[in-house]
Amino acid sequence: MEKLLIEGNHHLKGEVRISGAKNAVLPIMAAALLVEGETKINRVPDLRDTRTFANLLEILGAKIQFSNNEMLIDASSVDKPIAPYDLVNKMRASFYVLGPLIARFGKAVVSLPGGCAWGPRPVDYHLKGLEKLGAKIELEGGDIIAKAKRLIGNKIRFDFPSVGATGNILMAAVNALGETKIENAAKEPEIVQLCEFLVSMGAKIDGIGTTEIIINGVDELKPQQVSVIPDRIEAGTFLIAGAALGKITLKDTIPEHLSVVIEKLIEVGAEVVIDNNDITVKRGKKINAIDITTAVFPGFATDLQAQWIALMSIAEGSSIVTDTIYNDRFSHVPELNRLGANITVEGNSAIVRGVNELIGAEVRSTDIRASASLVLAGLMAKGTTEVNHIYHIDRGYENIENKFAQLGAKIRRISVDD
Ligand code: EPU
Repeated sequence: MEKLLIEGNHHLKGEVRISGAKNAVLPIMAAALLVEGETKINRVPDLRDTRTFANLLEILGAKIQFSNNEMLIDASSVDKPIAPYDLVNKMRASFYVLGPLIARFGKAVVSLPGGCAWGPRPVDYHLKGLEKLGAKIELEGGDIIAKAKRLIGNKIRFDFPSVGATGNILMAAVNALGETKIENAAKEPEIVQLCEFLVSMGAKIDGIGTTEIIINGVDELKPQQVSVIPDRIEAGTFLIAGAALGKITLKDTIPEHLSVVIEKLIEVGAEVVIDNNDITVKRGKKINAIDITTAVFPGFATDLQAQWIALMSIAEGSSIVTDTIYNDRFSHVPELNRLGANITVEGNSAIVRGVNELIGAEVRSTDIRASASLVLAGLMAKGTTEVNHIYHIDRGYENIENKFAQLGAKIRRISVDD
C-alpha cells in the first residue's frame, strides 16, 4: 500500500501542465469497440482508470498498446462481448462498453455495477434507453444481458441529463436503423468530445453540445485518431490550490470549460488571468467564504465540490456547499474535520465554518475527488498530513505528487506494509 506524506503550509509557485481528461478518454476508448481496425488516442492520461479500462478492452479481445500518453486500440479481434464483475466493480465507467458492444455484436453481457462510496448510482436510464432502441434486457446472476438483432432509432427522454447514459445511448445509436433523438441529454464537454469523435468515425449527429441530440444511424464507421481534451477537473483542482497557496499557471487548459470555477475564485478574492489556453491564478489578500451549488455543465461540477470545501475550510466566514447531483457525496467531510476543519453536513449541503488554520493529521481517501480535497487540505495545513488509501487518487490524477512537488510543495509517496 502507498500513502502520500505532505508537509503543509508551503507557498506554491510555477507552472503545471494539465493532463487529458479521464472522463473524456474512457467513453472514447469504449467507442473504439464499434469498429474493426486501429483507433489512435493521443493525450491519454496514465491513470489507474485508463489502465483498468484498457484491461477490460483486452479481456473483450482488443489489442492495446499504451506508452507516452498515446494509446492504440485495435478492436478487430474483439470476440467476447462480456464485461466481468471484477472490472466493472472496480470502475463504474466500465458500463460504457454496453452501448458499443450491443451496437456491433447485437449482444452484450455487462456486470451490473454495485453502489459506490456515496450512494446507489443506478444505471436505469442506460437500460431504459437501450430498451427504447429495441434491446431485450435481462438481469441474470448479477449480469445485464442485452440483445438486439439491430437497434432501431427512437425518442429517448432522460429524467436527468446523465453523462454516462447519454454516452452509452450515443454509442448504441450510431448504427441503429433510422433516427434516435435524446431529449434532456448531457452537454458536458466530455460528451461533446465523444460526439465529435463519433462524427469523425462517420456517425451522423446533430445538436452536439445541446440538450437535444439527434443521431441518424449509418451502416459504416471507420477507426479514427483523436486527441483528448484537457481535464477540467484536474485543472479546477490546481486552480483551487493556487487560490489557497500562491501563484500557479495552468498550461494547456480550455478556460471556457472552467468559467464558473474561475468566476467563483474571483469572488473568493483570487486574481485570475487567462492567456489563450493558459490560466494563472494568484491568492488574494484574503479568502472569502463563497457558497456554491453543483449543477450539470456549465454549472459548478460535482467533481470539484470536495476540493471547494477544502478551500472554504480556511475561508473567512461560513459557506454552504450544496450538491444537487449526488445527495450524499460528503465522505471527505469527517476526514477534513480530522485536520481541524469545522464542517457539518445537513441533507445535501455542507456548512463550512472557516477556521484560522488546519493542522496536519493522518487521513484516508474514500474516492477520487475526496482524495484530491484531502491533498489540498494537507498542503494548506500546518505540520504533516498522511493521506492513506491513495489508489483512489491514482484513478483520476496523473502524477499528482510530482505536479505539486514541481510547484514547491513538500509532498512524497511512500510505500507502507499492508
Ligand atoms: N442517474 C440515475 N440513473 C442513471 C444514471 C444516472 O438516476 O441511469 C443519476 C445519478 O445517480 C446522478 C445523476 O443521474 O444523481 C448524474 O449521474 P451521471 O449519470 O451523469 O454520472 P455518471 O455518468 O455515472 C459521470 C462522471 C462522474 C461525475 C458525473 C456527474 C465519468 C466516468 N464519470 O458519472 O465523475 O461525477 O458524471 O458529472 O464520466 C469522477 O470523475 O470522479 C466522477 C465520479
